[in-house]
Amino acid sequence: METTTSVMTVHYDEKPIYDIGFYSDFSHLLGHCEALNIKGRNICIVSDSHVAEHYLSEVTAILEKLSPKVISFVFEAGEEQKSLDTVRRLYEHLILEHFERRDILVALGGGVVGDLTGYTAATYLRGIDFIQIPTSLLAQVDSSIGGKTGVDFDSYKNMVGAFHQPKLVYINISTLKTLSTRQFLSGMGEVVKYGVIIDAPFYHWIEEHKEQIIALENAVIKEMIYRSCDNKRRVVEQDPKEQGMRALLNFGHTLGHAIEKLTHFQYLHGECVGVGSILAARISYNKGLITKETLTSLEELISFFSCPYISGYEVDEVLETVRSDKKMSEGQIKFILLDEIGHAYISREVCNEDMKTVLEEYQHA
Ligand SMILES: NC(=O)c1ccc[n+]([C@@H]2O[C@H](COP(=O)([O-])OP(=O)(O)OC[C@H]3O[C@@H](n4cnc5c(N)ncnc54)[C@H](O)[C@@H]3O)[C@@H](O)[C@H]2O)c1
Ligand SMILES: [Zn+2]
Repeated sequence: METTTSVMTVHYDEKPIYDIGFYSDFSHLLGHCEALNIKGRNICIVSDSHVAEHYLSEVTAILEKLSPKVISFVFEAGEEQKSLDTVRRLYEHLILEHFERRDILVALGGGVVGDLTGYTAATYLRGIDFIQIPTSLLAQVDSSIGGKTGVDFDSYKNMVGAFHQPKLVYINISTLKTLSTRQFLSGMGEVVKYGVIIDAPFYHWIEEHKEQIIALENAVIKEMIYRSCDNKRRVVEQDPKEQGMRALLNFGHTLGHAIEKLTHFQYLHGECVGVGSILAARISYNKGLITKETLTSLEELISFFSCPYISGYEVDEVLETVRSDKKMSEGQIKFILLDEIGHAYISREVCNEDMKTVLEEYQHA
């Protein structure tokens, strides 16, 4: 595989919509932006306090070569800031700076920055363009692709949002060097997920390269991110509005998300998804869908990327949370199960008892 520089294009209805660029620095950003016809348009770079400290001045200097006016909006890092209040402050900033329909936002940061910037871009003046420069592993392999944008509302995650596709996703993998190890490992939960649900060769590749992944070996990380994005691309192209196959991406998320909520977000999303994935695999095993060897291999791989043991919630509360999360959409739980590595499917046959059994097993292990 070509691993020095590469570009992948996301298509909808066979039309190319945006490119994803994979690089080890920011040196190709200018070229990509020139190709997008950004010259002369105002740019607002949105970032959070951690990321801005490392990368804002470099990205600003590059974009200043294209635009007469490059401003920034930096908010305090953290999921609590992914709110309508931050969006309101960003609107205000854009209005005071006379941003018009042709102007453009750049999301420089993790999933929080990407989701919030995308949502602001989707709604400001009925929609303006935006670019994703994802800097966390989770954002590089997952949230920056697919056009889902949004913010949280009180304690309801991603309650308010819109589909709005970026014009470009620019991945500079070397930004991962400043990401904390815990955040990096949390992103690995989503990487392993692609292998588990739709890409068995990738799953085995991750198993074979896990030491190099942990050591952040450049070529391996680049291939890993490329292959993850390729999987996400395949899924979103087939199901842009999440009406079918995209639900497979929720593997590990039904129980993981309930645990995340009940432990008041003190664990990272990927950590909870790791636990949720182990539980979903155990349900698959209990239903006779996968072998003991498959289950063990999956548990070992997820645990290798340091999935912590998460306690501090009641089994009944988890079931209640799953029920209330699901009630809003379909009334019946759509649970993602596995019948082999690389093949997940949507099941409507997971009942409370199935979830209860594995949760109790997990808690008493
Ligand atoms: N839109 C989607 O399809 C989608 C998919 C999955 C998750 N999400 C959303 O993504 C969010 C989680 O994203 P996240 O895990 O990136 O969280 P995040 O944006 O909060 O980033 C995690 C932490 O890492 C810091 N950080 C990011 N990049 C860094 C870097 N290169 N160097 C140093 N620090 C860095 C951030 O400041 C933050 O403190 C959630 O809100 C979730 O709902 C969206
Ligand atoms: Zn997730």
